[in-house]
Amino acid sequence: MSENKVALVTGAGLGIGKAIAERLAKDGFAVAINDVNPATAEASVEVLQASGATATVAPADVSNRDQVFAMVEKTVADLGRLDVMVSNAGIVQVDPILAITEEAFDRLYAINVKGVLWCAQAAAQQMIKQGDGGKIINAASSAAHSSHAVLGTYGSSKFCVRALTQVMAQEFAAHGITVNAYCPGIVDTGMWDTIDSRAAEVLNIPKGAMKQKALEGIVLGRLQTPEDVANFVSFLASADSDYITGQNMLTDGGMVMI
Ligand SMILES: NC(=O)c1ccc[n+]([C@@H]2O[C@H](COP(=O)([O-])OP(=O)(O)OC[C@H]3O[C@@H](n4cnc5c(N)ncnc54)[C@H](O)[C@@H]3O)[C@@H](O)[C@H]2O)c1
Repeated sequence: MSENKVALVTGAGLGIGKAIAERLAKDGFAVAINDVNPATAEASVEVLQASGATATVAPADVSNRDQVFAMVEKTVADLGRLDVMVSNAGIVQVDPILAITEEAFDRLYAINVKGVLWCAQAAAQQMIKQGDGGKIINAASSAAHSSHAVLGTYGSSKFCVRALTQVMAQEFAAHGITVNAYCPGIVDTGMWDTIDSRAAEVLNIPKGAMKQKALEGIVLGRLQTPEDVANFVSFLASADSDYITGQNMLTDGGMVMI
């Protein structure tokens, strides 16, 4: 890979996004780190710089369109260009359908759906200006293929990401931009801790039970690590995936088979 390729990863202060940023830096990308939490974003940048990588912080709440365009502008100002946009930031909510509030629904959709849309708009605009293509990589989920009780808002938002990925792939192909999504299963991050403890409350089950049940459905017999996801995103960010677009690919240890 040429030395001056640049990747921007949203929600990269923690969890899957942090692992993706670290992997892309190892792959030779200069990396812009976004997170709504400035402290974790700065900490991720420091880890990358300490390893000898080129990294900068690119602040934004991805639900805010203006902030997302400013995030891409800062990435280009600091690192020169943008080749790979990883729209990883997302949140979860755990509620039965009958308990979903309008406020909670709007908040999750603003981040998980609008955030992915604004990031793609801002990134594609920059990539089209550069004129030599690019890669947009969105965070969907196994829940975008097969959703679960009490995850109605979350699962439906990931179905939206899946549809947006297909539409973006068709619209951006003429500019040499591929668009794909990664669909993880049960990744042992803060998000799954939230799902498990909230499920214990709303379903009146012991803490740990939801995670254990999910684990039993994984053919490979272990929870996924953020690095498992990052390995796959590394492929999607590389030239080896150049002939793949519009796909929402499961990386879930064989939990959902389609
Ligand atoms: N953990 C899983 O099992 C799993 C499975 C499938 C898909 N995913 C998806 O992968 C992505 C990352 O998940 P994770 O497990 O690392 O989550 P996480 O909660 O551990 O980390 C998410 C990061 O995104 C940041 N973030 C949240 N809202 C933001 C906003 N508005 N703007 C910018 N940053 C924001 C958070 O501060 C946090 O650092 C999400 O889109 C999630 O839906 C996760």
